[in-house]
Amino acid sequence: MAPARSRKLWGGRFSQATDPVVERYTSSLAVDQRLAVYDVDGSIAHAKMLGRCRIIPAADSRRLVTGLQRVRRVVAAPGWRPDHRAEDVHTAIQQLLERTIGPVARTLHTARSRNDQVSLDLRLYCRDAVARVQQAIVRVQQALIQLASGHTRTVIPGYTHLQRGQPIVLAHQLLAYVEMLARDSERLVSVERRINVLPLGAGALAGTSLPIDRAYVAKLLGFPRIALNSLDAVADRDFVMELLSAAAILGVNLSRMAEDLILWSTEEFGILALDDAVATGSSLMPQKKNPDVLELLRGQAGLVIGQLTAFLTVMKGLPLTYNRDLQWDKRLLFESIDLTRDGLDVFARFLGHVRVRTDQLNRLLETDSLCATDLADHLVQRGVAFSDAHRIVGTLVALSERQGKRLQELQMNELQQVSTLFDAHAREILDPNRSVWRKRSVGSPNPRLVAQAIARWRRRLNTR
Ligand code: ARG
Repeated sequence: MAPARSRKLWGGRFSQATDPVVERYTSSLAVDQRLAVYDVDGSIAHAKMLGRCRIIPAADSRRLVTGLQRVRRVVAAPGWRPDHRAEDVHTAIQQLLERTIGPVARTLHTARSRNDQVSLDLRLYCRDAVARVQQAIVRVQQALIQLASGHTRTVIPGYTHLQRGQPIVLAHQLLAYVEMLARDSERLVSVERRINVLPLGAGALAGTSLPIDRAYVAKLLGFPRIALNSLDAVADRDFVMELLSAAAILGVNLSRMAEDLILWSTEEFGILALDDAVATGSSLMPQKKNPDVLELLRGQAGLVIGQLTAFLTVMKGLPLTYNRDLQWDKRLLFESIDLTRDGLDVFARFLGHVRVRTDQLNRLLETDSLCATDLADHLVQRGVAFSDAHRIVGTLVALSERQGKRLQELQMNELQQVSTLFDAHAREILDPNRSVWRKRSVGSPNPRLVAQAIARWRRRLNTR
């Protein structure tokens, strides 16, 4: 067998084989093998450019490209495992190519370093990751809208401080989640602008004296921009930090949705029931049906925040330009994106399996003075200053509490003792089911506006 050093891209000046412990520790293959297809795509563009710029003979360039296309089919096949002795994916692909087309393969790494190459590979991966996460976000939004469409008139309490605040419709809260996810998706669009910058051509750090054509490579790979400083090109991982950050914020948003649904599925709230297909049981308490999926989703935010924090900490204080510390980026990024995609996928499925316990909801509405604000607004419409109206209704709430009643149960004469402006109409104001219909401000939970919002989202997300 050939000595280990001959398998390295940099063996020339070394006379000893690498210590096996060092070799194992420094190898990135187990992680970066996921970049294989991107590595090949980058190499195909690079090989074409080398031929076009006459840096290598046109015939060699063609042989590189055909060879790389064959290699691409090999590494794209599901069962592909790289030769574990290669130091990293770039070396593994180089060796595969040499086995496929012979010594001409050795012309491929002209005017290129693994420093600009790994940044390119990672950017190609990020581009795909953004698209996939965005698709997964849309599937969750569609599931939310599907669920919402059956509940534009289902009145529930809306909460602040986890205390019942005012009546809303259930669909309105689900649409709040759709909005949150739309921002998560927008954030990815903005990161994409900075992912889509071609680093290749920066070489190890100082460019090259060979007559390469970076604009041509950028065009072949669909990059609208080229990194304009070779030092920055190999040292920049802002796009990784930003993508991790977008994933962390998305994770936090998912955890908030999960928490709401966990609360809603308790007997105490009684708003949701879970199908058996998405619930789990207790090994000890036979009666239990638990929302473990949601708890995992809630907890997952801790991991994606951790991956962001870990990578920010790796980056902090790194001198220009490339340092091997940067190798840790892939592990953190892959984990974060995998978790994000899995979490979104499971949440979309989960939403197809929740049922709203409409029979239970009146219990939540009846036991509370949810419409106190409506009553104050009603007085405002009769010319009372809001702060005075607030005090008047507050007095009524205190009165009803002293009598152990709900606001709705006060008699007309009791209302009129506090303000003569109350008439028979006042009692209707206190009905939560009517309250939502009186809402008129844009973005409020009026069932008519909520139905319009659903139609708007459907057009935007291209659903039925
Ligand atoms: N495995 C390395 C990484 O992930 C590839 C670049 C190696 N470059 C180097 N000069 N050792 O960053």
